[in-house]
Amino acid sequence: MSTSLVYAAYIVAAILFILALAGLSRHESAKHGNLFGIAGMAIALVATIILAINGVYRSGLDEAAKKAGEWGLGLLVLAMVIGAAIGIWRARVVEMTGMPELIAMMHSFVGLAAVLVGYNSYLEVHGNPVYEDLMHRAGLTGIHNGEVFLGVFIGAVTFTGSIVAFLKLSARMSSKPLMLPARHWLNLLAVVVSFGLLIAFILSPQLWILAAMTAIALAFGWHLVASIGGGDMPVVVSMLNSYSGWAAAASGFMLNNDLLIVTGALVGSSGAYLSYIMCRAMNRSFVSVIAGGFGSDGAVTSGDTDYGEHREISAVETAELLTDASSVIITPGYGMATAQAQHAVADLTRKLRDKGVEVRFGIHPVAGRLPGHMNVLLAEAKVPYDIVLEMDEINEDFPSTDVVLVIGANDTVNPAAIDEPGSPIAGMPVLHVWEAKSVVVFKRSMNAGYAGVQNPLFFKENSAMLFGDARDRVEDIIKAL
Ligand code: TAP
Repeated sequence: MSTSLVYAAYIVAAILFILALAGLSRHESAKHGNLFGIAGMAIALVATIILAINGVYRSGLDEAAKKAGEWGLGLLVLAMVIGAAIGIWRARVVEMTGMPELIAMMHSFVGLAAVLVGYNSYLEVHGNPVYEDLMHRAGLTGIHNGEVFLGVFIGAVTFTGSIVAFLKLSARMSSKPLMLPARHWLNLLAVVVSFGLLIAFILSPQLWILAAMTAIALAFGWHLVASIGGGDMPVVVSMLNSYSGWAAAASGFMLNNDLLIVTGALVGSSGAYLSYIMCRAMNRSFVSVIAGGFGSDGAVTSGDTDYGEHREISAVETAELLTDASSVIITPGYGMATAQAQHAVADLTRKLRDKGVEVRFGIHPVAGRLPGHMNVLLAEAKVPYDIVLEMDEINEDFPSTDVVLVIGANDTVNPAAIDEPGSPIAGMPVLHVWEAKSVVVFKRSMNAGYAGVQNPLFFKENSAMLFGDARDRVEDIIKAL
């Protein structure tokens, strides 16, 4: 295949990636979006391998260079086989509940790759006097140094930030924010020193400058995400998604690969837009997200507020409540994912609809642990899309609703976000479930949600707790109906 055909394939792949993003923005077209993405990536892979083969066998290369190129191609194939084997294995064994941390882990790989590509690009030019001289004469040394520095910086921040996100999402690290004294000043210092090092590196590209910046960027990425509380993690996940895109784009510049630049920019900008949507959903400022450690500033909860007594309800009583209801809203949360209750919930929905009850779902934008988490589960269980509504579409309907079933949701239905200005989730829009006539909360205990905040909803007069695993309890209700 000629090089121009490879570039034509790159354009086709880029268009397929854009179609994939467009498809993924709606439930109905998400499957097609995925297929476009898979096709685009397959074309990109094949075209890049052909480009590499063309590079090795192009005329004018001496034997030694050809040998080195063949060795590189061998490594490429080996890396692809190992990568594909790990990818297939992980994709087969991962639980739906493990997806968020898997994605965070993958973001960290993109960051690490950008760091390695940056160092490789640095050594390729500055470790070879002939190449260095050529770059110098073409007046490209400064630009190249800037590319390497920024690529490594973004990559290193993405790498450690994503590892902390992985640890927090998989509960290997506390979801509580790390509150170092003067943390904002530390962040500012890291940015200012890195900027100074960038200037120094462009003027005199020495390895120690790159290494010093890498150390600062690794610590900066770690601190940025560690200082964010559990309730604000959705914005972090989408920010890291965006960072990983920019890290890939930076690698594209260093590798002179147009498709990687375009793809990285697509991921970077769509991730930034997702972060903006998340910020709006959580009523947070976009700028303070980028600065890190927002959200928990000055937020205090005593943790010992006495909200009174809670009331319990059985599955049979809940079935009776539902039989008498004419309108029901189900608000699922992370607990529905851990209990894998979506199929039972879909069965219950069908049963109630067959009895003439109006059943709808209210989905909070950050319910679960990754954007669209609940939508994916409900789609998997074949719940019709037209009864699955966004928070803004359904929030006004709670006062006219007979029964709300809160299935494994906690922070996203917590009235403290509205009533308690000192709460870590203060200001976050929530589903106003307590405005319905009756609320049944499915959970296993009185424990707090991911943000670590107690939920006054559980103690309201019209609320009742249905304790136990969400799937078991929903199945009990189906039996009793
Ligand atoms: P959470 O606040 O995480 O609460 C989930 C509840 O489910 C828990 O209180 C837990 O109570 C219950 N639960 C767990 N396993 C259960 C089971 N097997 N059966 C029944 N109940 C079970 O849920 P949410 O309302 O979905 O809120 C999401 C939180 O995660 C928010 O704070 C959000 O900011 C954060 N977050 C979201 C994302 C994205 S992008 N969506 C990413 C990172 C973080 P028990 O232990 O008592 O059962």
